[in-house]
Amino acid sequence: MTQRAEINLLMVCLGNICRSPTAHAVMQHKLNAAGLAATVAVDSAGTAAYHIGKAPDPRSIEAAARRGYDLRELRARQVSSSDFRHFDYLLAMDHSNHGNLLRLSGPDGQSQVHLLLDFAADAGLREVPDPYYGGEQGFEQVLDLVEQACDGLLAHLQADLQQRR
Ligand code: 4NP
Repeated sequence: MTQRAEINLLMVCLGNICRSPTAHAVMQHKLNAAGLAATVAVDSAGTAAYHIGKAPDPRSIEAAARRGYDLRELRARQVSSSDFRHFDYLLAMDHSNHGNLLRLSGPDGQSQVHLLLDFAADAGLREVPDPYYGGEQGFEQVLDLVEQACDGLLAHLQADLQQRR
């Protein structure tokens, strides 16, 4: 795990091979563009252990690459209770993973757990649908939703940082 930045974000899905690596790369891209890469750090993890050590799903890598995001170096890992000591925001892709995080967090970590789409007020959805068993369109939808939410999250963090200064 990298050294603590001022704000530390963890994107969380089930397998850490489709949705959360996509959110990881999209948010990193937006932080870089905003000049916040040294202030806000982002990582990703899965609540399940199925794919530990694996690269992202080739369908996610390809869909993201078409929009200019590079997922190829990312490797899956499983979220653990120690992540609640490092990360300020644990951002779940769906209610199931949100529930898993709340169970793992214990009473002190509950306020760190969010749904990523809580930061996409206009998306009309609360969950990023799991694309794993579906077709290519599902991977495009993941990108559409994640891009909207990362814009909202970035604006939220910029306001938060402004208040701290
Ligand atoms: P993710 O997608 O949670 O977005 O990484 C999935 C990846 C793998 C499986 C399910 C969802 N799986 O059942 O192996």
